[in-house]
Amino acid sequence: MKEVDTKKYYKKKINEFKSHNKLYFEKNSPKISDSQYDKIKKEILDLEKKYDFLKSDSSPSSTIGFTPSKNFIKSKHRVKMLSLANAFDIDDLENFEKKILNYLNEKINFEYSVEPKIDGISASLTYKNGIFVMGTSRGDGTTGEVITENLKTINDIPQSIANKDFPKDVDIRGEVFIKKKDFNKLKNNFANPRNAASGSLRQKNSEETKKIPLNFVAYTYGYLETDKIKKQSDFLNLLKKWGFKTNEHNTVLKTINELKNFHKKFENERFDLEYDVDGLVYKINNLELQKRLGYTANSPRWAIAHKFSADSAFSQITDINIQVGRTGALTPVARIKPVNIGGVVVSNATLHNEDEIIRKDIRIGDTVKIERAGDVIPHVILVDLKKRDKKSKKFIFPTTCPSCGSQTIKEYNKTTKKHDAVRRCINEGFDCEKIAIEKIKHFISKDAMNIDGLGKKVVENFWDLNLIRFPQDIYNLDYNKISNLEGWGDLSVSNLKYSIDQSKQISLDKFLYAIGIRHIGIENAKLLAEYVKSIKNFITFINKNKFNEFLDIDGIGETQINSLKRFFENKSNYKIIEKLSSILNISDLKLNKNGKLLNNTFMFTGKLTNMSRAAAKSLIEENSGSVVSSVNKKLKYLVIGEKPTNRKIDQAKELGIKILSQEEWLNLLN
Ligand code: IVH
Repeated sequence: MKEVDTKKYYKKKINEFKSHNKLYFEKNSPKISDSQYDKIKKEILDLEKKYDFLKSDSSPSSTIGFTPSKNFIKSKHRVKMLSLANAFDIDDLENFEKKILNYLNEKINFEYSVEPKIDGISASLTYKNGIFVMGTSRGDGTTGEVITENLKTINDIPQSIANKDFPKDVDIRGEVFIKKKDFNKLKNNFANPRNAASGSLRQKNSEETKKIPLNFVAYTYGYLETDKIKKQSDFLNLLKKWGFKTNEHNTVLKTINELKNFHKKFENERFDLEYDVDGLVYKINNLELQKRLGYTANSPRWAIAHKFSADSAFSQITDINIQVGRTGALTPVARIKPVNIGGVVVSNATLHNEDEIIRKDIRIGDTVKIERAGDVIPHVILVDLKKRDKKSKKFIFPTTCPSCGSQTIKEYNKTTKKHDAVRRCINEGFDCEKIAIEKIKHFISKDAMNIDGLGKKVVENFWDLNLIRFPQDIYNLDYNKISNLEGWGDLSVSNLKYSIDQSKQISLDKFLYAIGIRHIGIENAKLLAEYVKSIKNFITFINKNKFNEFLDIDGIGETQINSLKRFFENKSNYKIIEKLSSILNISDLKLNKNGKLLNNTFMFTGKLTNMSRAAAKSLIEENSGSVVSSVNKKLKYLVIGEKPTNRKIDQAKELGIKILSQEEWLNLLN
């Protein structure tokens, strides 16, 4: 990269970092996970390491935390409130210890004070003559916000301390946090317990802070005038004696191997704690050594935070529920004890299907490893059999639909000669409540009728209020009733009305997709729409039971035909189509007549990468081209995928037809 481009890229990353900082620290509403945030931070630091011309006042290398909010009076910390360096693996720990030994330049055996790192926000409490006089947030590390009144609402913080050995003037520092069970009640408002704690603690009005039960655990000091205390572990004991809460899992360990084992055990059991922990803090226990080691710009040399994995965690299954989807699929979902994975509190994990439960022998009560990476739905990767209760019983998957009581089946696949892994409710219509709700959600979705203003939650709400039972009910809503509902105002009702009215104008392919016939996705709906041309014709096909004719369509096979037959055997589905076709204005599929591929004909041979034939055909047709099914003079391009038919290539060569790879073909379209 050129220097100007590197600078430009760096600036972009700094701006990203700044805007996420603002969302996180000032607004308490992060838009990315902690690990994504850490990635941005690391990228900036790596860039600075590589190119010494990169510098910014807003870089994570020169800032900690956030600029104190304008809502509070500020106060300069007597001793800076620094953050900790992170270790993610054993290499990082070994490096940490090596650096310490190098710095001290002598061979010393030291011990570590090991403390759970509670995921909350830090606060500093100043006591003068045993009286709590001022409390501050960390702020940017140098200056914090004065939040004394808010901190006074926390029961764990002593207002006065009478012990004779309590220092006359001291800053006690620790973490303000919220327990998981309390967070559960607030989880619609905050991404994780830390944001909830931060949001509550930094309320302008301390009466608001009272509403969210906050806790405080003490772990260090800022200003302190004494040299009587020799060890961090002794200080933690004193804190307890003076009336502060300290963490019950604090301990002292010696070797990296001991740290490693403790970390592993703690990580695998943390789901059982009442609060969120995102790692362990290791501090050199000897305070004299701490003093000798001192600080780098942002963090002490004598301590490190050993983080837990950001994409997996152990937890315990408390229940298994069966969800019924739009196509009747029964999906088991494990309810688990909430655990924070990379900044997101996970309390459910999908178990995929019946076969997955059988294969992994997953049971209620099991301790399992949950993975949550990127946007993938959290899922169980293994069961810790050592932790299984002797009395535990195999999970019995229901054989009838938990929503409507109908029979369920596992379909037999003729090609693979295997039964489907998924069990399904055989109900095709709207008689199964759960299926009906999911069908309506599909009907309104973006690629279908695209009725924004009527989201999934609203569908559920309207269903509960008996306002909708079938898709056509959407076009006959009682708006008077809706405008009296909580959360609905004139504006939102008129928006809803508008987007419902707009959706009445719909193309045939989108409509066929919207009615939610299994195996008729967007591409197949387009193929059907092109073939039947109008909704009237489609209804005639149903009436005359002429579905087999669709076999002529390249891309439609027996699976789709059988699904269409099953769908329309159910009379309520037929009635819905009839009703909707009288309410809606369903137009023929609009083909683009001015696309890039106008007057160009294509044919495919061989398997395409990451694309079905039907999708390739739609793409060509959307761009005004056409697809033919034999090699003749009318053909302009033969597109070859994997394992093509050589005879077709030879014929094309003979006729002088251009031969394209998939990539070359896609290049025609940019
Ligand atoms: S000591 C100079 N001890 O972790 C080091 N911090 O990234 C001061 N934390 O800001 C911190 N538990 O919010 C320390 N036992 C513990 C901790 C702890 C949680 C938090 C604290 C700090 C952050 C460091």
